[in-house]
Amino acid sequence: MGSGIAEVCARAGLDAVLVDISAELAAAGKARIEASLGKAVEREKITDQDRQEALEHLTLGTDLDRVAGCDLLVEAVVEDARVKTEVFRRLDEIVESPGAILASNTSSIPIIKLARATQRSGSVVGLHFFNPVPVMNLVEIVPSLETSEETIERCRVFVTDVLGKEVIRAADRAGFIVNALLAPYLVSAIRMYEGGFATKEDIDKGMQLGTNHPMGPLALCDLIGNDTILAIADVLYDEYKDPALAPPPLLRRMVEGGLLGRKAGRGFYEY
Ligand SMILES: NC(=O)c1ccc[n+]([C@@H]2O[C@H](COP(=O)([O-])OP(=O)(O)OC[C@H]3O[C@@H](n4cnc5c(N)ncnc54)[C@H](O)[C@@H]3O)[C@@H](O)[C@H]2O)c1
Repeated sequence: MGSGIAEVCARAGLDAVLVDISAELAAAGKARIEASLGKAVEREKITDQDRQEALEHLTLGTDLDRVAGCDLLVEAVVEDARVKTEVFRRLDEIVESPGAILASNTSSIPIIKLARATQRSGSVVGLHFFNPVPVMNLVEIVPSLETSEETIERCRVFVTDVLGKEVIRAADRAGFIVNALLAPYLVSAIRMYEGGFATKEDIDKGMQLGTNHPMGPLALCDLIGNDTILAIADVLYDEYKDPALAPPPLLRRMVEGGLLGRKAGRGFYEY
C-alpha cells in the first residue's frame, strides 16, 4: 500500500519520499512502482514522459528522518498498533512543519490511539486508500475526535484536487464505512461454505451473476488476503461483539495453515 500511495503522489507531480525498514524492502517498493508505471504506459493511461517524470519525483530511504521536511505523511506500516504508535511518536519528534498532516492508512486501528502518541492530535487523521492504489478511485477520510476541521479540509483537497480521487468521510469506528459493510458479507460467505451449505464455486457464481459483483466473496477474500480479512473481522468483533462478525474457525485455520490467498498461491482457490 505504501508504494501505491507514493506512486499516486509522484504521478500527481508531488515530491514523494518512500521509507521502509531495509534497503531491500525500499527497493522492492520502488520495483513495484516501476512495474505499475510500466503497465500504465502499456495501457496508454500515461505517456512514457509521465512515467519518467513520476520516477524523478520519487526518493527512497530507510531513515525516517528523510521525511522531516514533508507537509503530508502517510503511514502504511504493518497493521500492528504497537508498531504504528511508535512510528507516530517518532514522526511527531522529527517532522519540522507545525502544519504538517500525519495520516494513517490503517484499516482498523483507532485514529485517536495514534493521535495520542503525538503532541499534535489535531493534525492526525485516517486516510484509507484501497488496493491497488493507482487503480482504486476511493479514499476514506477518518477524523478522530480530536482532528481539526482544517486538517479534514486539507485532506479532502489533497485527495480530490491533487490525486483526482473521490472521498467519503467516516467516523473513527472499526471498519470505517467500506470494511464495516464488506467484512460481515465476506465472513458470512466463509461461514456458508464451512457449513456445507453450498460449494465455493456456487457461492461465488451466485454473487457474481446474481448481483453483478465483479468477483464472488471467496475469490475476493483470496485477493485481499485471508490474514487481512481475519485481522479486520477480529477488530470488528472486538468493537461490536456481534456474533455475526466473529471470524469462522475455518478462516483462522486457513491463516494458521498459510492459506492466505493469491499472495501465498493458495487460499479458497489455487493460483
Ligand atoms: N492490503 C490491503 O488491501 C490494504 C488496503 C487498505 C489499507 N491497508 C492497510 O495498509 C497498511 C499496510 O498494509 P500492506 O498490505 O501494504 O502491508 P505489507 O505488510 O504488505 O507492507 C507493510 C510495509 O511496512 C513496512 N514497515 C514495517 N514497519 C515499518 C516501520 N517501522 N517503518 C517503515 N516501514 C515499516 C514493511 O517492511 C512493509 O514493507 C496496513 O495498515 C493495512 O491495514 C491494507
